[in-house]
Amino acid sequence: MEIIRKKRDGGTLSPEEISFFVQGYNRDEIPDYQAAAWLMAVYFRGMEAAETAALTLAMADSGEKADLAAAAEKTVDKHSTGGVGDKTTLVLLPLVAAAGVRTAKLSGRGLGHTGGTVDKLSCIPGFRTELGSGEFLAQVRDLGVAVTGQSPKLAPADGKLYALRDVTATVDCIPLIASSIMSKKIASGARNIVLDVKTGSGAFMRQRESALALAETMVAIGRDLGRRTVALITAMDQPLGRAVGNHLEVIEAIETLRGRGPADLVELCLRLGAEMMLLAGLARSGEEACARLAEKLKSGEALDMMRRWIFRQGGDARVVDEPELLGTPPFRAELTSPAAGWLARLDALTVGQASVLLGAGRAKKGEEVDLLAGILLLKKTGDRVRKGEVLAEIFCSDGARIAPALEMLAGAYGFAPEAPAAMPLLLDRIDWLSLRS
Ligand code: URA
Repeated sequence: MEIIRKKRDGGTLSPEEISFFVQGYNRDEIPDYQAAAWLMAVYFRGMEAAETAALTLAMADSGEKADLAAAAEKTVDKHSTGGVGDKTTLVLLPLVAAAGVRTAKLSGRGLGHTGGTVDKLSCIPGFRTELGSGEFLAQVRDLGVAVTGQSPKLAPADGKLYALRDVTATVDCIPLIASSIMSKKIASGARNIVLDVKTGSGAFMRQRESALALAETMVAIGRDLGRRTVALITAMDQPLGRAVGNHLEVIEAIETLRGRGPADLVELCLRLGAEMMLLAGLARSGEEACARLAEKLKSGEALDMMRRWIFRQGGDARVVDEPELLGTPPFRAELTSPAAGWLARLDALTVGQASVLLGAGRAKKGEEVDLLAGILLLKKTGDRVRKGEVLAEIFCSDGARIAPALEMLAGAYGFAPEAPAAMPLLLDRIDWLSLRS
């Protein structure tokens, strides 16, 4: 109660007090009602940098530890705070692996309007998304790329606290989000971390200032715990690329590795990839790194790495050349434009919610998803449209879902008589060396 009171009154908790609280809650010695009161006190009073680092460390120390970075040299972790159409991991990992960067990635399933890498990879026939730790590390060493589902044994206190936050309106709190994300990175042993912090309607952090504050908090935690951490703040006002929904996103990722990707997705992968190359010591400047990665796309080496990665995790690598092996959705419908003009708005959150209505996402943890459901955006912000022109195609396995999804999707679009100003994708960059405090 003393610890709750101290935070409630705006005090600063010591690392010992934070550790006592987190370990006590993790061992069921502190009840939910006290933890809930403490979370609410943190929500209103915030945390100082040292408190946030102590909370991160206490959660990271609450379970098993891995040392994925020790598996091989030049290992860099990458994390996105989540968005709509964000298939970056599927492109970025084989791309940077082709250039010598190693990634040992623990990924999650999609929740709400945002997708998850594990769901996307499950579309590939035979692909194993649960690897044992031995084979996982061996794959990182031999191939340079491995992805497996998040282990519940890693930072279990975060899992428990997250579940409690979910039902006590304490999720959207910067020190709690930052420590939650970073505790899993620290527990997995990551030493070099690239964060893609999204902002805009389809992101956790809708306002740019909040995204910046979240990024700064995570980079500061990384720095204070001896991890080289870089964050890019990137726009998530409209979906990334043209595909939203698991199987469509796998196809788009493969097309991108083939050198035929949408401009925004390619740009993001090159920028994030360049940061990973720099952290791995494989390039001297961002320009050099981008040029090397662009070459890996052009030469087909990145695509070949995708084939090898799929094969190594038990998947049918023929999908790279024969995407129809991923399956064909039984139902298809079109959304046509009600107006002529320029597309001025394509709201990411609404597109994400329409994809959930189609069955591509889950409203609650543990629900089944329709891997074939999704939305293909034929027009994006800044495109010119004619009245009646097809704006998007939607796909699913349950015809009853089409009408409500089309109605929802129509609400994502806004039109203007003139071309809107171009929206930049990369908004800011923060690294552990340049952080102000
Ligand atoms: N992702 C996490 O892992 N934790 C949060 O609190 C929010 C997003």
